[in-house]
This record gives sequence, C-alpha cells and structure tokens, in this order.
Amino acid sequence: MRDCKEFFTEPFFSRLRLVLVAVIATTAILAMSSSRIPLTAYRKAYLQSKESDGSRVSNISAHTQPRKDGDYHLKSDEGLHNITNVPRSKNKYSNLEILEASLAEARAAIKGARIGQEAPHEDFVPKGPMYLNATAFRRSYLEMEKRFKVFIYEEGGPPVFHVGPCKHTYAIEGYFIQALEVSPFRTTDPSKAHLYYLPFSVTRITEFIYVPESREWGLMKSFVADYVNTISHKYPYWNRSLGADHFMLACHDWGPELSFAVPYLYTNSIRALCNANTSERFAPSRDVSIPEIHLPLGTTKGMIGGPSPSKRPILVFYAGGIHGPIRPILLEYWEDKDADVQIHQYLPKGVSYYGMMRKSRYCICPSGYEVASPRMVEALYMGCVPVLIKEGYVIPFSDILNWKAFAVVIPVQDIPNLKRILMAISPRQYIRMQRRGIQVRRHFEINTPPKRYDVFHMILHSIWLRRLNIIVEDATES
Ligand SMILES: *[C@@H]1O[C@H](CO)[C@@H](O)[C@H](O)[C@H]1NC(C)=O
Ligand SMILES: *[C@@H]1O[C@H](CO)[C@@H](O)[C@H](O)[C@H]1NC(C)=O
Ligand SMILES: *[C@@H]1O[C@H](CO)[C@@H](O)[C@H](O)[C@H]1NC(C)=O
Ligand SMILES: *[C@@H]1O[C@H](CO)[C@@H](O)[C@H](O)[C@H]1NC(C)=O
Ligand SMILES: *[C@@H]1O[C@H](CO)[C@@H](O)[C@H](O)[C@H]1NC(C)=O
Repeated sequence: MRDCKEFFTEPFFSRLRLVLVAVIATTAILAMSSSRIPLTAYRKAYLQSKESDGSRVSNISAHTQPRKDGDYHLKSDEGLHNITNVPRSKNKYSNLEILEASLAEARAAIKGARIGQEAPHEDFVPKGPMYLNATAFRRSYLEMEKRFKVFIYEEGGPPVFHVGPCKHTYAIEGYFIQALEVSPFRTTDPSKAHLYYLPFSVTRITEFIYVPESREWGLMKSFVADYVNTISHKYPYWNRSLGADHFMLACHDWGPELSFAVPYLYTNSIRALCNANTSERFAPSRDVSIPEIHLPLGTTKGMIGGPSPSKRPILVFYAGGIHGPIRPILLEYWEDKDADVQIHQYLPKGVSYYGMMRKSRYCICPSGYEVASPRMVEALYMGCVPVLIKEGYVIPFSDILNWKAFAVVIPVQDIPNLKRILMAISPRQYIRMQRRGIQVRRHFEINTPPKRYDVFHMILHSIWLRRLNIIVEDATES
C-alpha cells in the first residue's frame, strides 16, 4: 500500500509553534455584483440596505443591540509584546497580554504533557492506539476546558446568523452555532476572548441570498465581505490580528468559496470546514476539518449501534450515486462482480441502507462531488469499519486520532485490489479495529446538550489547537 501521508495532518504536539502575527491595517471591500431575478424577502432586504448606504451593509446589525463603546476599547498606553519578557516595573498588563500568557502556559503544559491528579470531572480519559498521543491530547483538552473563551459577534440574526440547519447533511452548522452560544466556552466580554467567531451559516446563505440556478457567487460573497467589514469597523479585533484570531465554520460545499470573499479570511483566519480539500487551499495547520454528519431527523436517535463482527455476513458495502472522480472507478471494478463485495448504485427495493451497513464488516466511504461524505461517521456509528478512498482530504481530527487503528485507507489506484486488501486483514485484527471504532465513536456523537469529548468538543478542541499556534500582539498598544 502506498504511503497515505497526504490524508493526515501531523500530530499537533509536534507542530505547536509560535507565529507572530503582524498588524497592518488594510481592509478589502469587494465590489458587489447584484442580480435581480426572483428574490427572497431576506435577499431583497439585503440589496435594499446596500442601495441605501452605498457599499456598507446596514441591516446585518438590525437584529441586535450594538455593544457599549467602552466594552471593547483597548487601553492604548499599555503593553510590551513579548510575553516572556515583561519588565518588572510594569504592574498592569493589557487583557491581550493576560490572554496570551495563559495560552503560553497551556502550550508549556501540553509540551511537557504534565498530568497532575485526575480532575474530579474526568468521566472519560482518552487512551489506546486510536490516539496519536493520548496523554498530550488529554492535557490539551483539560487546558481547553480550563481556559478557552470564544466571543461570538452579536451582529446579525436569523435566518442566516446565529442559527443554521439542524437536519440533513449540513446539520453540524446549526448544531455547532447553537451549542456554542449556550456553552461555558462563550464569553460575552470580547476583551476576554482568545477567539472571535463569525456566526454565519453558509448553508443558510445559499438558501436566502443565492439566486437559485444563477451560478452567481458575487452576491453571497459580498454578503460575507459586508459582514466582516461591519465587525472590523465596529470592533478593534479583526484589524488587530488581520483576522488570525477569528474563525468561521461551514459544512456546505461552498464554504471554502465564500471564504475567498475576504482575503484575510482564507489566508489568516481559522476555517472549520467539511469540505477540507487540500487542492482547494485547505491548510491543515490553520484550518480545521470537521465531520459531515447526515441527520435526516435532526437527531442521532436510532443511528448509533450495530451487531458484533460475527453477525456481519457481508465483507464490504457501498451504495450511492456515482459523482465525482472516484466513485465511477469503484463501480467500474466492483459493481455486481462479487457476492462479498456489495457495491451498488441503487439498493434493491425494500433493502435498507443503514441495515446493509449493520450487516457489513467494512463500509466504503469514497469522495463524491466533494471530499467529505457522511458515510464515514455513519459507518462508525453503526460499527462498520470505514474504508476511506479519498484524495487530498484531510480527515477530521487526524492530528489527534490515529485513523489507521480503526479505519482502512486505500489509495484510489488500489481500488482493483480492494478485496485482496480487506481479505488480508486477519479476523483478529478486524475485531480489534472494529472495537476501537466503537471506542472512538463518542468523538463523533452529537449530544444535546453536548457532552465532554463529543463531536462539539472535538471540533472546538481542533480550533483551540489552531489558536495555540499563533500569538497576537497589538501594535496600537505600544
Ligand atoms: C433595516 O432595519 C430597520 C430597523 O429594523 C428597518 O426599519 C428597515 O426597514 C430595514 N431596512 C431594510 C432595507 O430592510
Ligand atoms: C522574547 O524575550 C525573550 C527573553 O528576553 C527572547 O529570548 C525572545 O527572543 C523574545 N521574543 C521575541 C519574539 O521578541
Ligand atoms: C506525547 O507528547 C508529549 C509532549 O506533548 C511527549 O513528551 C511524549 O513523549 C509523547 N508521547 C509519545 C508516545 O509520543
Ligand atoms: C479597521 O481597518 C479599516 C481599514 O483600514 C478601517 O476602515 C476601520 O475603521 C478599522 N476599524 C477600526 C475599529 O478601527
Ligand atoms: C479537490 O479539489 C480539486 C481542485 O479543485 C478538484 O479537482 C477535486 O475534484 C476535488 N476533490 C473532490 C473529491 O471533489
């Protein structure tokens, strides 16, 4: 088997680094290209607000009260930037310095992987070969719980801000936004935040701003650019770091494209994306790959669990549309070729898709139109060992999880050898992989409210790690 390195990110603890973020003040305001055919009311209001005040958006902020001025002004006469070299005479530190000092302590604790006594609330402790370094992960997770604070910009309201879809394929967008808003990681004091969240839902933008069938990105992009423009005028934080301590989250396929609307958003900010395609500027050390989770009913009820290996008569299963570059190859080699290899475009009437996953030992998760697919998480939910056939995909949490301990990764050119590769895995080895898959399942589960180490916390943890990789200084403070 070929080296599959391109699929994974290096373990984070060997990558913790310190990047100084310079502060230069420039803002790009993208020209907007409007399109006037049938408009939803929301889109119409957006266009009208643009007409009434030139290029600046107004009604994004119409839904919330503006914050009081003093809340977010930094004191201008404080501040040395080098947190390791603060002079003794100085007895007052800026909020930013205090925050950065706290992050420096977290970095040191993770690098030393110091584990003191178990915290009283530790109901779960990661261990086993499913983790690249369980001790470092646990330390980092505990540091996150202890310190991490996120400010959510309050500007904007439903249907596009602070909410998102909670059903179907992009459900993680709505779930994450809503879970973060009520989580203890949220701070309503922006001067106490390590990161700033841009709370728009890309799926909702495609529903409420995009003109269906128009193939016109301009309006959606100017919408995102306007939002960033609004918060960068109203608060000092975006300019201070040029977006580096900001993040967005999108599961919709168009997430990356919309992030291109704002230069610093895709070069500096953290983008948590399902569509984590390294050929489309996804940068594993700055961006975060999040799992795509298909929730037909808005809940995982009935999706989790499956029989033991001995009750799984089918070797390997796949059913689904043939789009994208990989699936046609899979179908060409394996459709209707072998009773052990159940590869279908359509399932026969009356055969249940999830039922097939529960009867199979391995489930194939090939890329489709986009690199991500909900099959990977479905397979883990149902106790089927995932077989990943993807190219240029950064697998979610692959800086923490050792995917090869509980999944099979096959390069596209090995599709003809699929059966041979799977048959070469001994029953004992299979049983181990399957059991580990069940053990890591918690990291992909959706809970309301969220539970420790579940998918909400894993996404947040990946974001936290990216934040640890930068140091923000405020040039205006010296
Ligand atoms: C903008 O918001 C204000 C206040 O909510 C409202 O009165 C006005 O009609 C809105 N304008 C547009 C174009 O939607
Ligand atoms: C910070 O201060 C330490 C100790 O004086 C020094 O070694 C280090 O180079 C400084 N770092 C920066 C980025 O100025
Ligand atoms: C885990 O990471 C810590 C540093 O964070 C390091 O000291 C330790 O050696 C690592 N363990 C393994 C097994 O790599
Ligand atoms: C951020 O920078 C832009 C462009 O230079 C400027 O127009 C804006 O006023 C700045 N924002 C703040 C809060 O100073
Ligand atoms: C990843 O991006 C590249 C470049 O745009 C594209 O050719 C490829 O098809 C994408 N992969 C998938 C699975 O969509």
